[in-house]
Amino acid sequence: MKGVILAGGTGSRLHPLTRITNKHLLPIYDRPMISYAIEALVGGGIGELMLVTGGTHAGEFLRLLGNGDEYGIKRLSYAYQDKAGGIAEALALAEKFVDGDQCAVLLADNVFESSIKPCVEAFSRQKQGARVVLAREASQEHLRHLGVAQFDGDRRIKRIVEKPDDPPSEYAVTGIYFYDHTVWRVLPELTPSGRGELEITDVNNWYLDNGLMEYDVLDGFWGDAGESIEAYYTVNDFVRASRGKAER
Ligand code: G1P
Repeated sequence: MKGVILAGGTGSRLHPLTRITNKHLLPIYDRPMISYAIEALVGGGIGELMLVTGGTHAGEFLRLLGNGDEYGIKRLSYAYQDKAGGIAEALALAEKFVDGDQCAVLLADNVFESSIKPCVEAFSRQKQGARVVLAREASQEHLRHLGVAQFDGDRRIKRIVEKPDDPPSEYAVTGIYFYDHTVWRVLPELTPSGRGELEITDVNNWYLDNGLMEYDVLDGFWGDAGESIEAYYTVNDFVRASRGKAER
């Protein structure tokens, strides 16, 4: 399985911090944000990675990560996104790299306490389709800024609702997604959403409509550090407390 890390976008929700750097290079405790995404995929057993980024700070990622050896990456490739057209548009740049394999796609502002390894292993065993990872989130206000799962009576996901005014459940869709080769057929069919972006939720709803989506629920802390300045500090506080404890 290949890994694709999406680290582009304008980071507008963290302006003005992101006027002078890429969001995924901002510090989370003692390292740049992107480090946590790399650690999650490498720790999940994925050694071949592509980093997709854009904007004026793309060179800094090379300076930080180099060939990836220090991070335990076996092969690290880079792709450059000309304009910030959404997660699904960025993913399309990884088609040749993934080369028909299964892929795990991770948004580089997501930080997970638990290992994603069980999800990687479950998807390796999945014969076809896609897989999303959910996290329980009690705050309605927080859910309104995320993708949220709507279930049917058998606890299967019926639909994912992006940024719902009225969240259909307490289960947020985290920023790790698993796809089979069909994804490259789905991406060109997408049309831009109200915020002018090709949405990953539309990709996931395609798989749901075709009965090809499975899911896991991950326990432990999960945060999207790019969601808002409050979320950014919540993630920082969590990492600081847990790393600090581990180092004492
Ligand atoms: C994206 C997805 C959303 C998901 C979130 C997780 O939101 O569209 O469904 O819950 O990532 O980090 P965005 O960060 O683009 O607003």
